[in-house]
Amino acid sequence: MHHIWPPEHAGRVIDDAELERLYTYPAAPRWLVANFVASADGAVELGGRARPLSTPPDRKVLRLGADLADVLLIGATTATVENFRGVHPDQQTRARRHRHGLARIPPTAVVSTGRSLPADAPVITQAQVPTLVLTCAAAPARTQKAWSDAGAEVVVTGDDTIDPAAAVSALLDRGLRRIDCEGGPHLFGALVAAGLLDELRLTISPMLTAGTAGRIATGPAIEPANLRLASALGEGDTLLLRYLAQQ
Ligand SMILES: NC(=O)c1ccc[n+]([C@@H]2O[C@H](COP(=O)([O-])OP(=O)(O)OC[C@H]3O[C@@H](n4cnc5c(N)ncnc54)[C@H](OP(=O)(O)O)[C@@H]3O)[C@@H](O)[C@H]2O)c1
Repeated sequence: MHHIWPPEHAGRVIDDAELERLYTYPAAPRWLVANFVASADGAVELGGRARPLSTPPDRKVLRLGADLADVLLIGATTATVENFRGVHPDQQTRARRHRHGLARIPPTAVVSTGRSLPADAPVITQAQVPTLVLTCAAAPARTQKAWSDAGAEVVVTGDDTIDPAAAVSALLDRGLRRIDCEGGPHLFGALVAAGLLDELRLTISPMLTAGTAGRIATGPAIEPANLRLASALGEGDTLLLRYLAQQ
């Protein structure tokens, strides 16, 4: 893997220790990172999943994002279609988290109004630490109870809809300030619209897919938000981009 941007580092090889430093969350009161992989023509899924778009360097930085976070944030659809089970740390993750003074296992926070998150979803039932379900008061009481009975902590953050700012505040209230959002596009669109993004980590996968796949953010149009390219790395034909949101 090598640097492409900024220009003073272009061409230089980056080793694992430097990569980890580059992907370490800054000491800010809140740092919300969104991770996506897209094909060169902008598709966010292939056959309904993100994984076929991913490459080994993408998986390496995705893992760093989770390993160095306090919490993983994910939309209900992504959690279910990707069969997300929460973090199950291996030796490398355990050692890395210990070195950074992080909790042994970061919890997952799933956003759902109740429609797309069954109580037996693996993100709840197979997690090693209780999953937070970020929901709203309008979610049926029996659904909320089923999530709790399955082991989740249910957090109500709005009346009819989930208020993204209140949801993120609920994470901060629990000391979870390094937030690793792993999608999907509806959740990301809501976070961007609410001005909650700090950093976008975007992998451009070397493939064209055409078709009708969506892109990384969806939802109502917003005033274009400017980004600053913080780093670009390359490995083989994969591009790993880090953008900072301009506040
Ligand atoms: N390429 C990548 O890196 C990547 C990453 C992630 C996902 N994906 C792909 O994206 C697709 C899923 O996309 P998606 O946009 O439908 O998924 P999503 O954002 O993960 O989930 C959407 C669902 O999450 C809940 N939700 C999200 N934002 C909400 C908000 N502001 N208020 C209330 N509820 C909210 C709702 O659940 P309820 O219906 O339960 O209310 C909503 O239906 C999959 O094909 C997945 O593979 C790709």
